[in-house]
Amino acid sequence: MFAPRRWPIGSIPEFKASPHRFPAEHAWAHGGVGGFHMFGRRAFAIADPALAREVLVSRMEEFPRSFHYRSLALVLGDGLLTTDGPAWAARRRAMQPMFRNEALGSVVEATQIALSALFSSWDIAVRNGQPVPAMGETSAMAMRVVARALLSGGVSDDAAARTAAVTRDAAFLIRRRNTSLLHFPEWAPIPLHRAIRRTRLVMEQTIASAMAEAAAQTPASAARGMLATMLASTDAPAAITELKQLFAAGYETTAMGLTWALQLLAGHREWQERLRAETRAALQGRRATTADVPRLPLARAVAEEALRLYPPVFNVVRQARGAGSLGPATLRAGDLIFISIWGLHRHPALWNAPDEFRPERFLDRATLPAHAFIPFASGGHVCLGAAFALTEMTVALAEIISRYVINPDAGGFVPPIGRTTLAPEREVHLLLSAAA
Ligand code: HEM
Repeated sequence: MFAPRRWPIGSIPEFKASPHRFPAEHAWAHGGVGGFHMFGRRAFAIADPALAREVLVSRMEEFPRSFHYRSLALVLGDGLLTTDGPAWAARRRAMQPMFRNEALGSVVEATQIALSALFSSWDIAVRNGQPVPAMGETSAMAMRVVARALLSGGVSDDAAARTAAVTRDAAFLIRRRNTSLLHFPEWAPIPLHRAIRRTRLVMEQTIASAMAEAAAQTPASAARGMLATMLASTDAPAAITELKQLFAAGYETTAMGLTWALQLLAGHREWQERLRAETRAALQGRRATTADVPRLPLARAVAEEALRLYPPVFNVVRQARGAGSLGPATLRAGDLIFISIWGLHRHPALWNAPDEFRPERFLDRATLPAHAFIPFASGGHVCLGAAFALTEMTVALAEIISRYVINPDAGGFVPPIGRTTLAPEREVHLLLSAAA
């Protein structure tokens, strides 16, 4: 079950070479649970739906978040994404109302405003016959959406761009700390830790000024958005911490989901045609509202198939609290558990044609293999923004495809690289034309 030990590096080279494929393939090769070593520590890769369910859902208390989340907390503070146990549970209860279904109206509104900006720039590219940089532009769009939806609508594009830039810096530093071969304690006065402290401060200042900008621009009577709901249950410093976490959790993930969906559609003209027909029939030339989202099942299926094939979060990492067992594995306290979302989503024994783009599999959910599709994880820590992200992706895909034809990219399909999220290894240039 264990890969060669090679103390102290263990399987780090293979892991770093492909952090999405290595745990998946290692788990597949060993019946769903593969052991390996990294930094002298034992780790288990899991690509077995029942065992993933045990770790994330039924035995959640035995498997708290791994030490990697401490690096996140150094930049993002102690919030929903970085805590566990009773402190996390209290936060989750306080934040849940902010994401209730009625709040999705703000998401659709913010998506439409961000799409209008996107269309202005893409219309020019179409007229000039130039390709559009899909990853860069969906990233800008996703930050506009999350900033506008969370900060009650009043945030400028400039504030959204500044927040995006600092969030990207934070993600980069967190990844550097989590993947460096030498793991220094938090207090060590190394340049990386100084950079982390600086970024943390800039991020707080950027978000505080975006909040002030939103408050100044949004009339008090209209301050009923997601932030207002959050402020009703917490104070401003705690709200800044949670906002940092929400931007970090919700921006790049959704942007990558959209980029993969657009890139997949570029190679599947027939799905573009199906989406266009569905959107035109449902909207009759209008822009989509929240009420239209359930009437766009094909757009949602394309979004979900993109999240299956290219899950933006490709591993979720936990740590065994004590000794015990997990399926065939005998665990010691501190063992790392990598739930391989890529491994579950592409498991050859669970899915029909696992590597093929077949959105129709999501049209009849009863046929999906149980607990094998978990792009938003599952259990207590299941993504709080899942409905937010799926709503944004569904509306964006429907509107984009009803307006443009995405022509096959002459440069070919850009493959994934596992960084903070699963990203295309270079910019995806899409050549668009106006849809008839
Ligand atoms: C396609 C887009 C997204 C994907 C694939 C995604 C995926 C995930 C995953 C896998 C987790 C579990 C992490 C873990 O337990 O270690 C998670 C947690 C979380 N996500 Fe998302 N996410 C997305 C979008 C969003 C958005 C838009 C928001 C908010 C605006 C958001 C907010 C959160 C929060 C707050 C948590 C922590 C929940 C908790 O521990 O209670 N996510 N997400």
